[in-house]
Amino acid sequence: MRTLREIPPLREALDECRRRGQRIALAPTMGNLHDGHLALIAEARRQGDVVVATIFVNPLQFGAGEDLDAYPRTLAEDQAKLEDAGCDLLFAPETTTVYPRGLEAQTRVCVPEVSEGLCGGDRPGHFDGVATVVTMLFNLVQPNVACFGEKDYQQLAVIRRMVDDLHLPVEVVGVPIVRADDGLALSSRNGYLDDAQRATAPALYRTLCTLRDALEAGADPDGTLAEGLARLREAGFEPDYLELRDDDLGPVTATTRQAVLLAAARLGPTRLIDNLSLTLP
Ligand code: PAJ
Repeated sequence: MRTLREIPPLREALDECRRRGQRIALAPTMGNLHDGHLALIAEARRQGDVVVATIFVNPLQFGAGEDLDAYPRTLAEDQAKLEDAGCDLLFAPETTTVYPRGLEAQTRVCVPEVSEGLCGGDRPGHFDGVATVVTMLFNLVQPNVACFGEKDYQQLAVIRRMVDDLHLPVEVVGVPIVRADDGLALSSRNGYLDDAQRATAPALYRTLCTLRDALEAGADPDGTLAEGLARLREAGFEPDYLELRDDDLGPVTATTRQAVLLAAARLGPTRLIDNLSLTLP
């Protein structure tokens, strides 16, 4: 696996792949890789002839007071994991390479509607930062296909909408959530949890499972969500949101069948997110 830190050699390497007629599959990440990220690499391996991963902790998507500086940076370990997973090329640029004029001067991509509410309500500007960097990565790599995790359900929806609205020639593939044995969705931020919080954390997934079962059996959504919030608080979480949306993140109506439960909840300073798809009766 080659690691490239600058744009010209990246473009050159990928031009060569395209000349050979190879299909390029991209998996963008912020590093500190775990089995969830590696599932994206495995899917990219299935989708393309050349697998490109990116590692870039994108300052444009972090708000003031968020964990940008503390975000774990583990490049050497990540390189070994990517190599084992069958990645061909890693692009790991410096911030000044991606944003040479600085963050304030940066042209931005803004995706309305689908980026509002949920994590977009709690983290203003977050999805503009994601959409901007993903557009840039699409332009640098020009992948045929790009893989994103369903763990970040709203992020995946924002990227799908952006690709659709801007007619970007990229196929977006969603990858199912990879969980620990106790159900906790794998996340780089799980490393912030102390032992007691780590023991509490799977209650988020268990609560979503209980709510899904009730909703699929025809329970009233408002009452079920209120009970879910109470359960999360009892378990020791401070919930940021717990919502039922249709699978495009629109409001649930009488005719909605495919829906998704989405939650964000804090354990101490650590914010966990999770979601679960369901079929309403
Ligand atoms: P990051 O949090 O590093 O996640 C990179 C990709 O891995 C995302 O598509 C995310 O949904 C996926 N992922 C993370 N945990 C997962 C899990 N447990 N199961 C399945 N997929 C999982 O998401 C970002 O980085 C950034 O916002 C990025 C898209 C790279 C733009 O900066």
